[in-house]
Amino acid sequence: MSRNYIYELSGLEDGKRVDIAGWVQDIRKLKNVAFLMVRDNTGIIQATLKLDNETTKHMINELTRESVIKLTGILNKHSPAKGGVEVQTIDLSLLNRSLTPLPLGIADPVEADFDTRFNNRFLDLRKPERLKIFHVESELLWGIRKFLNSEHFVEVHTPKIVAAATEGGADLFGVKYFEKNAYLNQSPQLYKEMLMSAGFDRVFEVGPAFRAEEHNTPRHLNEFTSIDIEMSFSDHNDAMSMLERSVKAGIESVALSNTFRDLDSTEIEVPEIPFPRISYQKCIDYLHKNGVEMEFGVDFSPEQLKIVGEQFKSFYFITEWPSQVRAFYTMPKENNNLVTNSFDLQYRDKEITSGAQRIHEVDMLEKRLKEKGLNPADFEFHLKAFRYGMPPHAGWGLGLERLTMILLDLQNIREVSLFPRDRTRIVP
Ligand code: 4AD
Ligand code: MG
Repeated sequence: MSRNYIYELSGLEDGKRVDIAGWVQDIRKLKNVAFLMVRDNTGIIQATLKLDNETTKHMINELTRESVIKLTGILNKHSPAKGGVEVQTIDLSLLNRSLTPLPLGIADPVEADFDTRFNNRFLDLRKPERLKIFHVESELLWGIRKFLNSEHFVEVHTPKIVAAATEGGADLFGVKYFEKNAYLNQSPQLYKEMLMSAGFDRVFEVGPAFRAEEHNTPRHLNEFTSIDIEMSFSDHNDAMSMLERSVKAGIESVALSNTFRDLDSTEIEVPEIPFPRISYQKCIDYLHKNGVEMEFGVDFSPEQLKIVGEQFKSFYFITEWPSQVRAFYTMPKENNNLVTNSFDLQYRDKEITSGAQRIHEVDMLEKRLKEKGLNPADFEFHLKAFRYGMPPHAGWGLGLERLTMILLDLQNIREVSLFPRDRTRIVP
């Protein structure tokens, strides 16, 4: 079906014949004429329709909001309608009639409650401001993908049904795998590391990660999209540099994008790199200076991160985390075993990425597994890859929804997930 997208119309000549297709957002009937507000994924426009015969009158009487139509008409660029452009309909056809009443209004001035919105997410997503979120997310990911590709990373796909925990055992979803017990993967961590032993040098993956986290917070999903990289012959500093350049490339791609014409309203600021770095210990010192208690060896609370984040305008790294709060595979710092060659990328109080140099030496890795209360035998498939020539390596995992959320200044991570999975929501 050849057609014009609505955003194009204002750039076409007055009097031109156009074909548009979309949803009828609003219908206003006068005696001899009807006004339809027609919406597609690029915009909304008024179409006028002369009610000069019985067929048309009948059709308009039957037409419901959110029905799908297509129409052919003449472009009028001297319209009194908002924007000054309208289409004078010559031919209208109804492609699919919507039931009425709608479970969720598209143009209602008052926002429906969260459950109504997410129970009817297909309707909620028809709102242009929702679609914009996913355009931004898509553009962000394209930018990061293109950048990593230009840095010779190979895009890979690792299993999501796995036999062992990656990030510690607590928040795993179990699945029945025929006669065995298996899990949904929390992170591609072990597989991307094995690919370093396989000699792939640099890999990245964009895929789902599953976390059976019990708490329902505005920052956590039980299924999220993780952008992961792993790079050989590299350390945490190399990984941090790759990360800040990836984030910058992604945001640049959003800022330069012209896919969504009405995005200009959102000011996307491309961050300057390098991002500031602050050590975990320096964060504690800062908290103490501000009269906030915090002991070495525990994770920051959201409140503490708010205070730490006050020092920075946007992105910053927290480095050298204590080994107690990092996963078993994290490389301890040389000459100071209390801390690790690890980092988190933060945006104010929000964690966007965790990463580190990894342990590549198998004895140390086994020792760390035991110290974390894990059984090396469960990780034998993984440890094996370290016994036959594993290069030093480093990498990170970035939450796509978290990055999109901070970029658009949204307060709830569910807004950036099409069909969010949280503690109570599994449908739709
Ligand atoms: O900090 P996490 O758990 O680190 C890892 O998975 C490591 N394997 C990464 C690495 O390469 N060392 O998760 C990485 C990122 C977090 O910083 C956060 O952005 C996002 O994934 N994330 C979540 N996003 C939404 N909901 C959740 N429940 C998330 N858990 C982690
Ligand atoms: Mg983390």
